[in-house]
Amino acid sequence: MTNDDNSVVQLTAVRKEYSDSVALDGVSLGIAAGEAVAVMGPSGSGKSTLLNLVAGLDRPTSGSIVVNGEDLGDLTEKGLALFRRRRVGMIFQFFNLLDDLSALDNVALAAQLTGTSAAKARTRALELLDELGIAGRRNLHPAQLSGGERQRVAVARALMNRPALLLADEPTGALDSRSGEQVMDLLLDLNQIGQTLLLVTHDERLAKQCATRVIHVVDGRIASTSDLEHTP
Ligand SMILES: Nc1ncnc2c1ncn2[C@@H]1O[C@H](COP(=O)(O)OP(=O)(O)O)[C@@H](O)[C@H]1O
Ligand SMILES: [Mg+2]
Repeated sequence: MTNDDNSVVQLTAVRKEYSDSVALDGVSLGIAAGEAVAVMGPSGSGKSTLLNLVAGLDRPTSGSIVVNGEDLGDLTEKGLALFRRRRVGMIFQFFNLLDDLSALDNVALAAQLTGTSAAKARTRALELLDELGIAGRRNLHPAQLSGGERQRVAVARALMNRPALLLADEPTGALDSRSGEQVMDLLLDLNQIGQTLLLVTHDERLAKQCATRVIHVVDGRIASTSDLEHTP
Protein backbone atom coordinates (compact mmCIF):
# COMPACT_ATOMS: atom_id res chain seq x y z
CA MET A 1 0.00 0.00 0.00
CA THR A 2 2.93 2.38 -0.30
CA ASN A 3 3.31 4.84 -3.15
CA ASP A 4 5.73 4.94 -6.01
CA ASP A 5 7.83 7.56 -4.29
CA ASN A 6 7.91 5.58 -1.05
CA SER A 7 6.36 8.45 0.84
CA VAL A 8 3.95 7.59 3.65
CA VAL A 9 3.24 11.13 4.80
CA GLN A 10 3.41 14.39 2.89
CA LEU A 11 2.32 17.63 4.52
CA THR A 12 2.43 20.75 2.38
CA ALA A 13 2.03 24.24 3.86
CA VAL A 14 -0.28 23.01 6.58
CA ARG A 15 -1.91 25.66 8.71
CA LYS A 16 -4.31 25.07 11.58
CA GLU A 17 -6.12 27.94 13.23
CA TYR A 18 -8.35 27.72 16.24
CA SER A 19 -10.73 30.54 17.10
CA ASP A 20 -8.17 32.31 19.27
CA SER A 21 -4.83 30.90 18.12
CA VAL A 22 -2.72 29.55 15.29
CA ALA A 23 -1.57 26.04 16.22
CA LEU A 24 0.35 25.27 13.00
CA ASP A 25 1.71 27.90 10.72
CA GLY A 26 2.95 26.56 7.39
CA VAL A 27 4.30 23.10 8.11
CA SER A 28 5.71 21.01 5.26
CA LEU A 29 7.06 17.58 6.03
CA GLY A 30 7.63 14.32 4.21
CA ILE A 31 8.07 10.93 5.85
CA ALA A 32 9.28 7.93 3.85
CA ALA A 33 8.31 4.32 4.50
CA GLY A 34 10.39 2.84 7.31
CA GLU A 35 11.35 6.15 8.90
CA ALA A 36 10.85 6.92 12.58
CA VAL A 37 10.31 10.63 13.05
CA ALA A 38 10.18 12.19 16.50
CA VAL A 39 8.55 15.56 17.03
CA MET A 40 9.83 17.59 19.96
CA GLY A 41 9.05 21.09 21.16
CA PRO A 42 7.66 23.13 24.03
CA SER A 43 4.17 22.61 25.39
CA GLY A 44 1.62 24.34 23.18
CA SER A 45 3.88 24.39 20.12
CA GLY A 46 1.46 22.38 17.98
CA LYS A 47 2.80 18.81 18.26
CA SER A 48 -0.50 17.12 19.09
CA THR A 49 -2.28 19.22 16.50
CA LEU A 50 0.18 17.94 13.90
CA LEU A 51 -0.37 14.31 14.90
CA ASN A 52 -4.14 14.69 15.02
CA LEU A 53 -4.20 16.15 11.52
CA VAL A 54 -2.07 13.30 10.14
CA ALA A 55 -4.37 10.82 11.92
CA GLY A 56 -7.40 12.39 10.26
CA LEU A 57 -8.88 13.29 13.64
CA ASP A 58 -9.12 16.91 12.56
CA ARG A 59 -8.78 18.92 9.37
CA PRO A 60 -6.32 21.69 8.54
CA THR A 61 -7.46 25.25 7.89
CA SER A 62 -5.34 25.20 4.74
CA GLY A 63 -2.60 23.14 3.11
CA SER A 64 -2.65 19.49 2.13
CA ILE A 65 -2.04 16.21 3.92
CA VAL A 66 -1.42 13.04 1.95
CA VAL A 67 -1.06 9.79 3.90
CA ASN A 68 -0.34 6.50 2.16
CA GLY A 69 -1.40 8.01 -1.15
CA GLU A 70 -4.70 9.40 0.11
CA ASP A 71 -5.25 13.15 0.10
CA LEU A 72 -7.20 13.60 3.33
CA GLY A 73 -8.76 16.79 1.97
CA ASP A 74 -10.54 14.70 -0.68
CA LEU A 75 -12.19 12.44 1.88
CA THR A 76 -15.71 12.87 3.19
CA GLU A 77 -16.31 12.52 6.93
CA LYS A 78 -17.15 8.87 6.38
CA GLY A 79 -14.06 8.38 4.25
CA LEU A 80 -11.96 10.00 6.94
CA ALA A 81 -13.43 7.68 9.58
CA LEU A 82 -12.53 4.67 7.43
CA PHE A 83 -9.05 6.10 6.88
CA ARG A 84 -8.56 6.41 10.66
CA ARG A 85 -9.61 2.83 11.26
CA ARG A 86 -7.68 1.20 8.45
CA ARG A 87 -4.57 3.20 7.63
CA VAL A 88 -3.23 4.61 10.88
CA GLY A 89 -2.75 3.32 14.39
CA MET A 90 -2.58 5.77 17.26
CA ILE A 91 -1.12 5.57 20.77
CA PHE A 92 -1.89 8.19 23.39
CA GLN A 93 -0.29 9.27 26.66
CA PHE A 94 -3.24 8.01 28.72
CA PHE A 95 -3.84 4.85 26.66
CA ASN A 96 -7.51 5.59 25.79
CA LEU A 97 -8.57 2.01 26.39
CA LEU A 98 -12.20 1.10 27.04
CA ASP A 99 -12.56 0.35 30.77
CA ASP A 100 -15.40 -2.13 30.37
CA LEU A 101 -13.59 -4.41 27.94
CA SER A 102 -10.85 -6.95 28.60
CA ALA A 103 -7.40 -6.36 27.15
CA LEU A 104 -8.18 -8.88 24.41
CA ASP A 105 -11.49 -7.25 23.50
CA ASN A 106 -9.93 -3.77 23.47
CA VAL A 107 -7.49 -5.01 20.84
CA ALA A 108 -9.97 -7.15 18.88
CA LEU A 109 -12.48 -4.30 18.63
CA ALA A 110 -10.13 -2.34 16.35
CA ALA A 111 -10.47 -5.03 13.67
CA GLN A 112 -14.16 -5.69 14.26
CA LEU A 113 -14.80 -2.01 13.50
CA THR A 114 -13.36 -2.57 10.03
CA GLY A 115 -15.65 -5.54 9.37
CA THR A 116 -13.42 -8.42 10.47
CA SER A 117 -15.35 -11.26 12.14
CA ALA A 118 -15.15 -11.47 15.92
CA ALA A 119 -13.42 -14.85 15.77
CA LYS A 120 -10.74 -13.66 13.34
CA ALA A 121 -10.26 -10.44 15.26
CA ARG A 122 -9.76 -12.31 18.53
CA THR A 123 -7.26 -14.66 16.94
CA ARG A 124 -5.14 -11.80 15.63
CA ALA A 125 -5.53 -9.85 18.88
CA LEU A 126 -4.22 -12.82 20.83
CA GLU A 127 -1.25 -13.18 18.46
CA LEU A 128 -0.36 -9.53 18.97
CA LEU A 129 -0.73 -9.66 22.75
CA ASP A 130 1.50 -12.71 22.67
CA GLU A 131 4.13 -10.92 20.57
CA LEU A 132 4.04 -8.01 23.01
CA GLY A 133 4.47 -10.35 25.97
CA ILE A 134 1.10 -9.76 27.62
CA ALA A 135 -1.04 -12.65 26.38
CA GLY A 136 -1.28 -13.87 29.97
CA ARG A 137 -3.09 -10.63 30.87
CA ARG A 138 -5.66 -10.89 28.07
CA ASN A 139 -8.73 -11.37 30.25
CA LEU A 140 -7.98 -8.52 32.62
CA HIS A 141 -9.57 -5.09 32.36
CA PRO A 142 -7.47 -1.93 32.00
CA ALA A 143 -7.89 -1.05 35.70
CA GLN A 144 -6.26 -4.39 36.61
CA LEU A 145 -3.19 -3.72 34.45
CA SER A 146 -0.08 -1.65 35.15
CA GLY A 147 0.55 1.47 33.09
CA GLY A 148 3.17 -0.29 31.00
CA GLU A 149 0.81 -3.20 30.33
CA ARG A 150 -1.97 -0.80 29.36
CA GLN A 151 0.30 0.92 26.89
CA ARG A 152 1.30 -2.41 25.38
CA VAL A 153 -2.38 -3.25 24.95
CA ALA A 154 -2.80 0.13 23.25
CA VAL A 155 0.15 -0.64 20.95
CA ALA A 156 -1.43 -4.00 20.07
CA ARG A 157 -4.70 -2.24 19.31
CA ALA A 158 -2.91 0.30 17.12
CA LEU A 159 -1.22 -2.50 15.15
CA MET A 160 -4.37 -4.58 14.67
CA ASN A 161 -5.13 -3.36 11.15
CA ARG A 162 -1.47 -3.35 10.00
CA PRO A 163 -1.41 0.43 9.63
CA ALA A 164 0.86 2.13 7.13
CA LEU A 165 1.70 4.58 9.88
CA LEU A 166 1.91 4.32 13.65
CA LEU A 167 1.33 7.60 15.49
CA ALA A 168 2.24 8.06 19.14
CA ASP A 169 1.54 11.17 21.21
CA GLU A 170 3.74 11.17 24.35
CA PRO A 171 3.53 7.37 24.62
CA THR A 172 5.78 7.22 27.69
CA GLY A 173 4.50 10.43 29.29
CA ALA A 174 2.39 8.67 31.92
CA LEU A 175 4.76 5.78 32.63
CA ASP A 176 7.47 5.22 35.21
CA SER A 177 10.94 5.10 33.71
CA ARG A 178 11.14 1.29 33.57
CA SER A 179 7.80 0.85 31.78
CA GLY A 180 8.65 3.82 29.59
CA GLU A 181 11.82 2.06 28.54
CA GLN A 182 9.89 -1.11 27.68
CA VAL A 183 7.47 0.82 25.49
CA MET A 184 10.41 2.65 23.94
CA ASP A 185 12.11 -0.69 23.13
CA LEU A 186 8.88 -1.94 21.64
CA LEU A 187 8.58 1.06 19.32
CA LEU A 188 12.20 0.66 18.32
CA ASP A 189 11.67 -3.04 17.53
CA LEU A 190 8.60 -2.22 15.46
CA ASN A 191 10.50 0.36 13.44
CA GLN A 192 13.35 -2.07 12.90
CA ILE A 193 10.96 -4.52 11.28
CA GLY A 194 9.75 -1.76 8.99
CA GLN A 195 6.93 0.06 10.79
CA THR A 196 6.83 3.74 9.86
CA LEU A 197 6.56 5.81 13.01
CA LEU A 198 5.66 9.41 13.86
CA LEU A 199 5.93 10.15 17.54
CA VAL A 200 5.68 13.15 19.78
CA THR A 201 7.80 13.13 22.88
CA HIS A 202 9.30 15.36 25.55
CA ASP A 203 11.85 12.66 26.20
CA GLU A 204 15.13 13.38 24.45
CA ARG A 205 16.30 9.84 25.20
CA LEU A 206 13.23 8.30 23.61
CA ALA A 207 13.71 10.48 20.55
CA LYS A 208 17.38 9.58 20.25
CA GLN A 209 16.78 5.88 20.77
CA CYS A 210 13.80 5.45 18.48
CA ALA A 211 14.00 8.10 15.82
CA THR A 212 15.86 8.34 12.56
CA ARG A 213 14.96 12.03 12.41
CA VAL A 214 14.01 14.58 15.07
CA ILE A 215 11.89 17.59 14.21
CA HIS A 216 11.73 20.55 16.55
CA VAL A 217 8.49 22.49 16.46
CA VAL A 218 8.31 25.96 17.94
CA ASP A 219 5.22 28.18 17.74
CA GLY A 220 3.59 26.03 15.10
CA ARG A 221 6.60 25.95 12.78
CA ILE A 222 9.39 23.48 12.14
CA ALA A 223 12.35 25.27 13.68
CA SER A 224 14.98 22.62 12.93
CA THR A 225 15.49 19.02 11.86
CA SER A 226 18.28 16.65 12.78
CA ASP A 227 19.08 13.29 11.28
CA LEU A 228 20.34 10.67 13.68
CA GLU A 229 22.85 7.95 13.02
CA HIS A 230 21.66 4.61 14.29
CA THR A 231 23.85 1.82 15.48
CA PRO A 232 21.46 -1.04 16.12
N1 LIG B 1 -9.23 22.04 20.27
C1 LIG B 1 -8.57 23.19 20.43
N2 LIG B 1 -9.23 24.37 20.49
C2 LIG B 1 -8.58 25.53 20.64
N3 LIG B 1 -7.24 25.65 20.71
C3 LIG B 1 -6.52 24.51 20.66
C4 LIG B 1 -7.14 23.23 20.52
N4 LIG B 1 -6.16 22.27 20.48
C5 LIG B 1 -5.00 22.94 20.60
N5 LIG B 1 -5.21 24.27 20.72
C6 LIG B 1 -4.17 25.30 20.84
O1 LIG B 1 -3.23 25.10 19.80
C7 LIG B 1 -1.91 25.26 20.27
C8 LIG B 1 -1.11 23.99 20.06
O2 LIG B 1 -1.63 22.96 20.89
P1 LIG B 1 -1.10 21.46 20.87
O3 LIG B 1 -1.04 21.00 19.47
O4 LIG B 1 -1.93 20.69 21.82
O5 LIG B 1 0.39 21.64 21.43
P2 LIG B 1 1.41 20.57 22.04
O6 LIG B 1 0.90 19.21 21.77
O7 LIG B 1 2.71 20.88 21.38
O8 LIG B 1 1.48 20.86 23.52
C9 LIG B 1 -2.03 25.69 21.73
O9 LIG B 1 -2.00 27.08 21.79
C10 LIG B 1 -3.36 25.15 22.14
O10 LIG B 1 -3.93 25.91 23.16
MG1 LIG C 1 0.44 17.62 23.04
